Amino acid sequence: MTKSGSAVKVLFVTTELAPFSKVGGLGDVAGSLPKALRQAGVDVRVVTPAWPGVLEKVSSLGVRTTTVKAKVYSAYDWRIHSANIIKATVDGVIIYFLNSEDYSGSQYPSQLNFWTASPFAVFCMQALELKNAIDWEPDIYHCHDWTSAFLPCALAWHRHYRQTGGKSIMTLHNVAYQGIFEPYPFLEASGLEPWSFNSSTMEFYGQVNLLKGGIVAATAVTTVSPTYANEIQTYESTRELSGILYQQRSKLRGIINGLDVKFWDPNGDKAIPAKFSVKDLKGKAACKKALLERAGFDPNTNAPVIVCVSRLVEQKGFDMVFNAAGQIAETGAKLLIIGSGNDWIEKGIIQASEAYPDSIKLFKGYDEPLSHLMYAGGDIFLMPSVFEPCGLSQMISMRYGTVPVVREVGGLRDTVFDVDRPEGGNGFTFQTCDVDGMMWALRRAVERYNNDKASWKKFMIEGMSEDFTWDKSAGLYKNLYEELMQ
Ligand code: ADP
Ligand code: GLC
Repeated sequence: MTKSGSAVKVLFVTTELAPFSKVGGLGDVAGSLPKALRQAGVDVRVVTPAWPGVLEKVSSLGVRTTTVKAKVYSAYDWRIHSANIIKATVDGVIIYFLNSEDYSGSQYPSQLNFWTASPFAVFCMQALELKNAIDWEPDIYHCHDWTSAFLPCALAWHRHYRQTGGKSIMTLHNVAYQGIFEPYPFLEASGLEPWSFNSSTMEFYGQVNLLKGGIVAATAVTTVSPTYANEIQTYESTRELSGILYQQRSKLRGIINGLDVKFWDPNGDKAIPAKFSVKDLKGKAACKKALLERAGFDPNTNAPVIVCVSRLVEQKGFDMVFNAAGQIAETGAKLLIIGSGNDWIEKGIIQASEAYPDSIKLFKGYDEPLSHLMYAGGDIFLMPSVFEPCGLSQMISMRYGTVPVVREVGGLRDTVFDVDRPEGGNGFTFQTCDVDGMMWALRRAVERYNNDKASWKKFMIEGMSEDFTWDKSAGLYKNLYEELMQ
């Protein structure tokens, strides 16, 4: 509640939104947290760019839209940028898709410079202007990652917006991506005050660092797990932002992500060939069969199936996986990976699958329905991340009775607990970030699967019974919003 007793009004400012423009976990969070917040009594709406293909996706999913009469305008690079506002309501949450030529390029540019960073600055200013086009004014702008980090910077340092007031929250889904590029001609073109560019604000080794600016300028900063909130104050995976994060720690808190448990539900999932639940696990065997067939392996094998669903980037630790290919094949397990990303990682996995074609299979690319079959048909979910702000995949795998093997880092440490602890657990964990560390946990999992089916069933049920809803975390965000309104 605000002081006047009305619900807090929050605008989610996000460049990814499931199911319309998801790239990774940020899309999942932006697509599911607002629903939970609404149920908790927050008046939350979402603004997001209509990247190429997004409006087509909206209509293919049968979502009804209307075009708002007024357009939204922002001034950037010495011209006015306008966008049409397409409004939709999904599960009770109002979404504004901004449609203009500014968003006609790729969602995430491979090279960042003034020109490729411009859509993100324009988007943030249009988010600030939205209130003038619709009959609703947010109390708080809730921003996500570097792509919307310009918004808190604008509220603090922009010639016009710093006079308008407004509160912002910067949620850090991944501090490794910061939005770094040359300052020229950004400083002049963006409307930020020249004094806003210094080492205690957004300057970073002579470059602009939007995330650094967002962290300093935001009213509050959150990140997606308590352990990551601690790690980033000292940990090298922040690419040198830990000093700033340590300095800003009084306004930083870690709130663990939840899942859209209706969407990720093995008992209602239309993308898998047989349904199952804690009460009746039978359907999982049919999913495993279908997955093995799809991979071209013997569908009747007794071997454990290890699955990975991931972006193939350094963060996820796949160099350990392909360097351990021989040892994994020796365990007798099948390893199925779906993902795409860095060339050198894809190449490493392809070479491993060529060396061990009876054991390792890569499905290259992004494929939502196949990812569901992987979660449902696997026995073991492998996620050996170097760092992991939260991680949703390990939680999804547990929902589908696929027991995770993870490194004890970030949100993985907050959600996966080793079964060999005295008090028991829901997965297998390791600490040392190398092949030996990973294989120590993976071998324990494979051996337990092969030789102790009763315990394995217990591990599956333990994971399937975890509470991965947003309920608790939505309450924590609501508390934060209300604190900011005091
Ligand atoms: P990150 O956001 O770092 O990529 P998360 O574990 O938080 O990691 O979220 C990843 C999300 O993206 C999950 O919903 C996962 O199922 C999905 N995903 C990742 N790779 C693929 C893929 N190749 N095909 C389909 N879905 C994928
Ligand atoms: C990021 C992180 C991931 C997290 C997701 C959603 O992409 O890499 O760990 O789960 O954001 O917050």
